Amino acid sequence: MSQGLITAAYIIAAILFIGSLNGLSSQESAKRGNVFGIIGMIIAVIATIASAQVSGLGYITVAMAVGAGIGVRLALKVEMTSMPELIAVLHSFVGLAAVFIGFNSYIDHGVLLGAAKTIHDVEVFLGIFIGAVTFTGSIVAFGKLSGKVNSSALSLPGKNWINIAALTASALLLVSFVSGDLGLTALIIMTVIALAFGWHLVASIGGADMPVVVSMLNSYSGWAAAATGFMLANDLLIITGALVGSSGAILSYIMCKAMNRSFISVILGGFGNEEFVQEGGEEYGEHFETSAQEVADSLAAAKNVIIVPGYGMAVAQAQYPVAELTKRLRDKGKNVRFGIHPVAGRLPGHMNVLLAESKVPYDIVLEMDEINDDFPETDVVLVIGANDTVNPAANEPGTPISGMPVLSVWESEKVVIFKRSMGAGYAGVQNPLFFKENSEMLLGDAKASVDAILSNL
Ligand code: TAP
Repeated sequence: MSQGLITAAYIIAAILFIGSLNGLSSQESAKRGNVFGIIGMIIAVIATIASAQVSGLGYITVAMAVGAGIGVRLALKVEMTSMPELIAVLHSFVGLAAVFIGFNSYIDHGVLLGAAKTIHDVEVFLGIFIGAVTFTGSIVAFGKLSGKVNSSALSLPGKNWINIAALTASALLLVSFVSGDLGLTALIIMTVIALAFGWHLVASIGGADMPVVVSMLNSYSGWAAAATGFMLANDLLIITGALVGSSGAILSYIMCKAMNRSFISVILGGFGNEEFVQEGGEEYGEHFETSAQEVADSLAAAKNVIIVPGYGMAVAQAQYPVAELTKRLRDKGKNVRFGIHPVAGRLPGHMNVLLAESKVPYDIVLEMDEINDDFPETDVVLVIGANDTVNPAANEPGTPISGMPVLSVWESEKVVIFKRSMGAGYAGVQNPLFFKENSEMLLGDAKASVDAILSNL
């Protein structure tokens, strides 16, 4: 393929990627956004492997076939609840690729002199640094999201000084690497420091702040890809990396605002955070248990109903009976709406995806800010598998979720909480909501409970 044709293909792919991001910004256009992204990526891959710089097409084809095979298998197999872990693993691959390409580009860059060599050295160093941080950070995030690693924040003594020391040592190594004093040795030492730094950065962030970590690692993986683009002199990779990097950074910022957290503090691994004592087992008094029949009766008498879904709805796959319940209640003339917390579930937009999948109309699915003032006029709130996002302890100091805005479900006439036990949510903080006078617990799997209500309605 001629260079002109490749450039044209890259421009088309870049436009499609921008269209894809635009499409993904709303539920109605998300499918179109995905299609744009897929077409853009196909064009990008074909144009890249058809360029004159690329040789060894046989190896590339085999590698792509193996990679695509694993990818398709994983995507078909993965449960919706495991999506965040999958994304974390995929981010780690981007980081690792940046590290490998960085070393390769250093060892095999042809003849470079003067400023061109300095620029190339800086690209290699930064690419490996960001890639290594992304790699280990994403692996820790995978561990925390999948429950294989404790989700509470690691708090090593002097943790902020450890981070500052790692950054300072890396900066000194950069100077030594660019000046040629230490060469490959500087690169290897920095890689080890960056791997440890990435691990420590994410390990220091507590469970409740994991939403920001997911989007932050998304952003880091974008910058790692952009750095790789500079090393390979590939304009499209620079554009794509910058798009992913900046959109991930914007999402992290939005998440921080939604959770009332300092952006700088979270991206620096909980810099300046107080330490919390997690008191998951604490109880606040008596709780009242209800039955599917009683909930069905309350719903039959109610005029205004709000459903607040959370991670448990995803685990139980209760979205289909919830959609059916919504339809049945709306057919009876009741005002049924959904209240979605920005960090409900384990993925930005997790609940919206599940509700869209089960064909709940978009116009009754409202964001927290749009619905939070309406609870006092609501007869029944059904909290389906949500916990941290409806925890009034967030309004008190001294817990890992303190300061995070939550849905004030307790202000309604009656709250029914669907969960399997009296246990705490993801952040490990016991929920005083369960012990309020107007709260009723419907204990059991959320799908089975909603099915039982449907048969009693
Ligand atoms: P969580 O606080 O995670 O609580 C979910 C609740 O669902 C649990 O208390 C659990 O109680 C219940 N549950 C689990 N399986 C169930 C089932 N089969 N049937 C019924 N209930 C079930 O939920 P949330 O309110 O959605 O809050 C999300 C949390 O995850 C926040 O702390 C957030 O910061 C964090 N987080 C979010 C994200 C993003 S981007 N959204 C990413 C990472 C972390 P039982 O075990 O007693 O049933």
